Amino acid sequence: MEKRNENAWNLDTYKAWVERFGEPATFMEVIKKDPFKRVKDIFELGTDFKGKKVLNLMGSNGNRAVALAVLGAEVTVVDYSEGNAAYAMNLAEAGGISIDYKCMRVEDFEPDFEYDYVFAEMGILHYFTDLSLFFGLCYRSLKENGKCIVKDFHPVSTKLISSRGHTAKIRKHKVDGDYFSTALVEKKVAFSKYSTGAADETVYLRQWTLGEIVTSAAGSGFWIETLEENPNQSSEQFDKGIPKTFILRAEKRSV
Ligand SMILES: C[S@@+](CC[C@H](N)C(=O)[O-])C[C@H]1O[C@@H](n2cnc3c(N)ncnc32)[C@H](O)[C@@H]1O
Repeated sequence: MEKRNENAWNLDTYKAWVERFGEPATFMEVIKKDPFKRVKDIFELGTDFKGKKVLNLMGSNGNRAVALAVLGAEVTVVDYSEGNAAYAMNLAEAGGISIDYKCMRVEDFEPDFEYDYVFAEMGILHYFTDLSLFFGLCYRSLKENGKCIVKDFHPVSTKLISSRGHTAKIRKHKVDGDYFSTALVEKKVAFSKYSTGAADETVYLRQWTLGEIVTSAAGSGFWIETLEENPNQSSEQFDKGIPKTFILRAEKRSV
């Protein structure tokens, strides 16, 4: 499973981001106009990033990492996709800023209790067949009182409900999934919708329940601050009443 997923994320990724966002220099102009916009769902308004060390696990094309660097943070990304790394480094170069992009498996990353924040977002936890590996890594990367923020797809919408129809008017939902299934599911790789080359490329995912996620974070030593569940935030009507994402905020605290 791991090798197959890694291969999928190393195929045509750079081209997909150019199709989605444009060439890095063009996209960087957009990011620089309002860098906080790229991270406002993750970090509180008014967060002072100057001199702060931030780790973005599985940080993909680097758009959030470079925005944080523009805001003054010292940012490290860990992600195994070479296409993502190349796009991110070209963004950074175009913006005249630097980020540390470690193109490697997160499983091989050895953190050293040095970060003020660790975050990961949107399509992360399902890549792990053992969640304690992920949260343990987050814990070991943080300083005392460091914060861990994970935003991901809500399991009610990924595991339980299936939906059809592309406008709010004709959209229909069915409760036909198995919330408690532990099976690996095969899905198209996330960037494939922007890529002709990788259009059929698939990955295998382990979809966790919310209970498993929170229990694993707490079991790794974290103090859970909040678990926020959110509807579709791009429209009030589309999929109204269905949880779409969640944000888990946790702190490394000595008791
Ligand atoms: C769906 S993306 C999430 C980030 C971003 N929201 C996005 O949509 O591109 C998943 C990222 O995790 C990376 N990834 C998955 N498994 C990994 C692993 N074991 N080690 C390092 N990176 C991994 C992929 O390369 C990809 O960039």
